[in-house]
Amino acid sequence: MTATLMDGNALRDELVAAIRSRIEGAGSPSICLATVLVGDDGPSQRYVKMKHQKAAEAGLASRHVDLPVTATQDEVESVVRDLAADDDVHGILVQLPLPDGLDPEPVIDLIPPEKDVDGLTERSMGRLVRGRPGLVGCTPLGVMRLLERYDVATSGKRAVVIGRSTLVGLPLSLLLARKGVDATVTLAHSRTPDMAAVVREADIVVGAAGQARMITADMVKPGATVIDVGVSRTESGIVGDVDFGPVAEVAGFITPMPGGTGPMTIACLLENTLTAAQLQGAFPA
Ligand code: GUN
Repeated sequence: MTATLMDGNALRDELVAAIRSRIEGAGSPSICLATVLVGDDGPSQRYVKMKHQKAAEAGLASRHVDLPVTATQDEVESVVRDLAADDDVHGILVQLPLPDGLDPEPVIDLIPPEKDVDGLTERSMGRLVRGRPGLVGCTPLGVMRLLERYDVATSGKRAVVIGRSTLVGLPLSLLLARKGVDATVTLAHSRTPDMAAVVREADIVVGAAGQARMITADMVKPGATVIDVGVSRTESGIVGDVDFGPVAEVAGFITPMPGGTGPMTIACLLENTLTAAQLQGAFPA
């Protein structure tokens, strides 16, 4: 392998330790993350469990609300409304996707923007678009932290983000194009013609489409930075959007899967919880 591995586990551990020391340095105030999980999807249960485990390691309090797959729209909304009104809760995350039949949009928009640790509400998204301070989604923020940590140049570079989800692709394309980051960004998706030619132009490639191993070595410019956010559940386990082995022979930097962007999502969730507490005046700025 010629590419340098972007080690998300190591950077997550650094960030968790830094959050812990900030909290201890401030006299250990109780800062609380609340999660809501509807249904019994195994991988979602494991992700949420990991979020609580890492919150505890970072010195954050956390609370979890489990709802059955039969929960109604009103029941889910009522839980989120209560958490929104609770002054002891500083961050709220509703694990997505919700089971079929439930509409996530009205649920998400009950989260006050200052508790919106996923950056998904209309107001958080609006702030991101307008370049104003606010909470930005954990996965896009995690990708930006990895680029910073590994000193990957962005200014004047071409970035291609594959996948236009509100959770990852769309906000990440905005972050990469922001003043000070200054990449020239293409937001590609399932209807993009000649994806190989589009990707071949890129100095930074982010796979966030959920298409197993769709980014192959022949598509990657030698020396490019390749970041894998895709998650596909296949018979042989969880597979990313990047055909890792061959692409690692061409790329300059690459994230492993697992151990790349996944741990960074969790680290940035904890960072966002602290930022949320600051926005609420519950933690020193
Ligand atoms: N499901 C998969 N990733 C995420 C995430 O970052 N936030 C939420 N709320 N749900 C998810």
